[in-house]
Amino acid sequence: MTRLLNWKALALSAFAIALLAVGGLVYAGAPGEPANVTQARLAAAAQPGQDWITHGGGWQEQRFSPLTQINDKNVGRLGLLWYDDLNTYRGVEATPLEIDGVLYNISAWDVTTAYDAVSGKKLWSYDPKIDPSFSQWICCGPVSRGVAAWHGKIIIGTLDGRLIALDAKTGKPVWTADTVLDKGQPITITGAPRIADGNVVIGNGGGDLGARGYITAWNADTGKHAWTFWIVPPQPGHLDHAASDSVAAMAQKTWAGPWWKYGGGGNDWDALAYDPTLHTVFFGTGNGSPHPHRFRSAGKGDNLFICSIVAVDAKTGRYKWHYQEIPAEEWDYDCTAPMIMATLTLNGQKRDVIMQAPKDGMFYVLDRHTGKLLSAKPYMPMNWASGVDPKTGRPILLPNAEPQIKPYLISPGSGGGHSWNPMSYSPLTGLVYIPMFEGYMVESIVPDDQFKYVLGKTTINQGYANEPELRKKLRQEAADREIGYMLAWDPVKQKEAFRIPYPHGGNGGTMVTAGNLLVEGTINKTFAIYRADNGQKLWKLPVGSVPVSGPITYEVNGKQYIAVNVGWNSAIVSKLTNPDGTPFSYAPGRLMVFALDAKGVTLPPAPPSNAVPAPPREVPDPAAVTRGEALYAQNCAICHGASAVGGVKDLRHLTKETHADFLNIVLGGEREKLGMPKFGGKLTEAQANDIHAYLIKRAQDDYQPNFMDLVKRQ
Ligand code: HEC
Repeated sequence: MTRLLNWKALALSAFAIALLAVGGLVYAGAPGEPANVTQARLAAAAQPGQDWITHGGGWQEQRFSPLTQINDKNVGRLGLLWYDDLNTYRGVEATPLEIDGVLYNISAWDVTTAYDAVSGKKLWSYDPKIDPSFSQWICCGPVSRGVAAWHGKIIIGTLDGRLIALDAKTGKPVWTADTVLDKGQPITITGAPRIADGNVVIGNGGGDLGARGYITAWNADTGKHAWTFWIVPPQPGHLDHAASDSVAAMAQKTWAGPWWKYGGGGNDWDALAYDPTLHTVFFGTGNGSPHPHRFRSAGKGDNLFICSIVAVDAKTGRYKWHYQEIPAEEWDYDCTAPMIMATLTLNGQKRDVIMQAPKDGMFYVLDRHTGKLLSAKPYMPMNWASGVDPKTGRPILLPNAEPQIKPYLISPGSGGGHSWNPMSYSPLTGLVYIPMFEGYMVESIVPDDQFKYVLGKTTINQGYANEPELRKKLRQEAADREIGYMLAWDPVKQKEAFRIPYPHGGNGGTMVTAGNLLVEGTINKTFAIYRADNGQKLWKLPVGSVPVSGPITYEVNGKQYIAVNVGWNSAIVSKLTNPDGTPFSYAPGRLMVFALDAKGVTLPPAPPSNAVPAPPREVPDPAAVTRGEALYAQNCAICHGASAVGGVKDLRHLTKETHADFLNIVLGGEREKLGMPKFGGKLTEAQANDIHAYLIKRAQDDYQPNFMDLVKRQ
């Protein structure tokens, strides 16, 4: 008896200790503590409530807030309450989180900061100290699109591939997991992690550069590895010992040639979603690598699971279903755009759907229980496909869609359609709000004997530099035709409801509220609010830059706020000029918070526009220009734009000082900390000089009409 009692007491105290241990670890964020996001709270938040606890607002990722205090009647009283300078000119793409009065934000180089969501007071800041050499793997600046919250922790994904869980109270790391499974790979994280059944799930980028894509999940309390799903199958005869093993044979049948030597790509650099009722993680996958199908897979097979939506079990990563939007994709039309879940009535039947509007210009509605395609329609004019065959679920290709050696214009361009900028869905209006980029790209493929695979170098089709005169003409045509707008799309009728026109693409993510507000940052460097039901403009504020990220709204102590990161997405600083014709100028990144009747906080004056510097007058050696053009396409175009137009910094607009410093910047790594990779060791001085010659030629060509004629006459 006594013994039994003792045994019971012992068992009880062991149980209590276990509880305590679990309590200490799991419930670091107990009620009243910061970032107290539990499974119950996450599962209850299909949409955001007073708080914005997960990347898409609630697990359905609709970015629809039920808050109505700020609404279409009173939004004219909205003002800037506070802002924080993020001290960067690189992109700021993150959707912040707001949980119980604290706002969590992530900026360039993954610097993460917690603020009092009402006063803007900084509570802590954490810098993961990314090695600047990682800038070589990131096309579009050292950006992050957001963070996750779980049991008192804020979990960030870093450019160098780590997941770091920070104590939400102090900002101190609790655990770190290295998600880079193969160290030689050009893997980077820019997407926002999601919590799914207690795991934190993350994908990565690298498919443009020869990586092999995968998703990993880690216990969100401990950082212990939970599962891995490889998007591209292993070499025949090999197993990955991963969750994807069960479908490796199925995927292998869709590949040909020695694909495993080329990475294969498929990287999911953004699209993730989690349905707690189905215990399912959905992920959208990217382009294959190399881009052209003929070099990747001997021109054969669908290449699973590139450019697909894949559903897996949240706990184990086990495959549930997939739908491949673009079999054998080869236009860089990643299927990685954010996905939204909703319940729609289709043909009189209520369906739980998952929706995506990826770069390829098609709006897809799938049953999220089964992956069955319910409908797909073009959401913009395009010339690669006329639509999707509802029987096979495959795109109906138009003649000449496949890459050819002769350069041609293809639409959408590699920026979409619509890419990562978050879209939103209002169950009240039944509309999806898509930031649109009706763009084009000059496409071509290298001849077979010129194809060379180098890990870490892009194989993107438009990188090839033949027929410069034709390319120039096509480029101009593309620039003339490009437009941007906010598209309100009816996902049931698969039809446009209305649009808000903008002069260019590159507008920001959208958010929609039950107060009939549609919120979006615009290419006009304003933060704007429209009526969600008809697009009528209600309010706007010049903010000095383009808020490309996803806005959020939250309520603290009975008062509603709107917050947004205002910071240009480096990738698309393209082709634009200020109204006076000078190159597009923009303010440093800032986090801004707005409230009704907020007054007295004003932004510093907008930065001055610099005139386009006159290019050097020396006529560069034509042979060097030709060599430089090809080298530029392979090494620089991914960040600085095809044909040196736009990109992170327009290289046609170098100053005299920058020309003089060219070799130090390019080979010496002088600006590595600002995101400009060091090419020393990868390019010779002679090669850098050839690229310089090409850039001088491009600057002269595009400077002022007849610039070189004038020079020659002097
Ligand atoms: C991974 C992205 C990336 C790649 C690839 C890249 N750059 Fe850059 N580059 C940048 C960024 C970001 C900056 C802006 C740094 C700053 O603020 O000065 C920059 C700036 C520059 C500048 C200074 C421009 C100015 O007006 O101040 C030069 C010159 C330059 N790059 C040349 C090149 C060349 C040549 C190549 C190819 C060999 C190349 N870059 C490839 C990201 C890149």
